Amino acid sequence: MQTFNTSLQGKRALVTGGTKGIGKAIADELAQAGAQVIVTARNHPGEGNTAHHFIAADLTQAADVAQLVNEINTKFDGIDILINNVGGLTAPGGGFSTLTDEHWENELQLNLIAATRLDRTLLPKMLEQKSGVIIHISSVAGKLPLWNLNMAYAVSKAALNSYSKALATETASKGVRVLTVAPGATKTPPMEKFIQDFATASGISLEEGYQQLLNQVGGIPMGRMAAPEEVASLVHFLVSPAAAYLTGTSYAIDGGTLPVV
Ligand SMILES: NC(=O)c1ccc[n+]([C@@H]2O[C@H](COP(=O)([O-])OP(=O)(O)OC[C@H]3O[C@@H](n4cnc5c(N)ncnc54)[C@H](OP(=O)(O)O)[C@@H]3O)[C@@H](O)[C@H]2O)c1
Repeated sequence: MQTFNTSLQGKRALVTGGTKGIGKAIADELAQAGAQVIVTARNHPGEGNTAHHFIAADLTQAADVAQLVNEINTKFDGIDILINNVGGLTAPGGGFSTLTDEHWENELQLNLIAATRLDRTLLPKMLEQKSGVIIHISSVAGKLPLWNLNMAYAVSKAALNSYSKALATETASKGVRVLTVAPGATKTPPMEKFIQDFATASGISLEEGYQQLLNQVGGIPMGRMAAPEEVASLVHFLVSPAAAYLTGTSYAIDGGTLPVV
């Protein structure tokens, strides 16, 4: 009989953007489960703020990624688990006319191309060892674009979803699983700043801003945002041996936000 094995003992995991928010929660959770965790971000989180091996890299820069992978291969001889968590909303709201080529390019670099570049450089060793798991952190916005708030971000996450599915099919018979996790509104500093900026720009209170944003996505049936640790629990399960038959699928973790089946 198969046991429900979620131990990550002996696994090497890289969490991009693993110093804050959802990425930090994932890094801590995977380490708790026994993995050796490497985190990367542009800035060191400060002494005492991370228990994991930190490597500085801006993932939108090809030269930084080459250095990062070189250090990983030299010090750890590759990895078993790759969490592509880096991403975010950087373009302004306001619809199509506010979005320049530069906004579109930046959003695609951060939310799509950073992941394709890192996968391309780390996958060969996974394929060699005939095992590995890659997670792409997407967003419910990929299926629920809001024209006035997140058009370019939503499009870049939809592209990430499609890429993740294609890669999963390509590597399924070679021992590498690829999955997508799509959080809804999650209580991280950028989300709180986003709500604050929206409320300030609209001349309303923080609470009214929060309610208006919830209304735009049709409300969150559970009535609250996710905690980063809740997203981390799902990721932990997906990268563990207990999820050995899962690949090519996408998991929304959104308190019921997506209104479609
Ligand atoms: N929070 C939400 O409500 C929510 C909802 C749906 C999906 N998501 C997705 O979840 C992921 C994490 O979001 P979050 O809210 O946890 O973000 P966050 O708190 O801002 O953390 C982002 C992390 O990525 C790093 N980072 C940012 N740009 C980088 C770059 N160019 N190169 C390397 N590292 C970079 C940051 O560190 P440095 O600044 O030091 O580089 C930080 O460690 C993103 O993909 C986001 O789209 C979030």
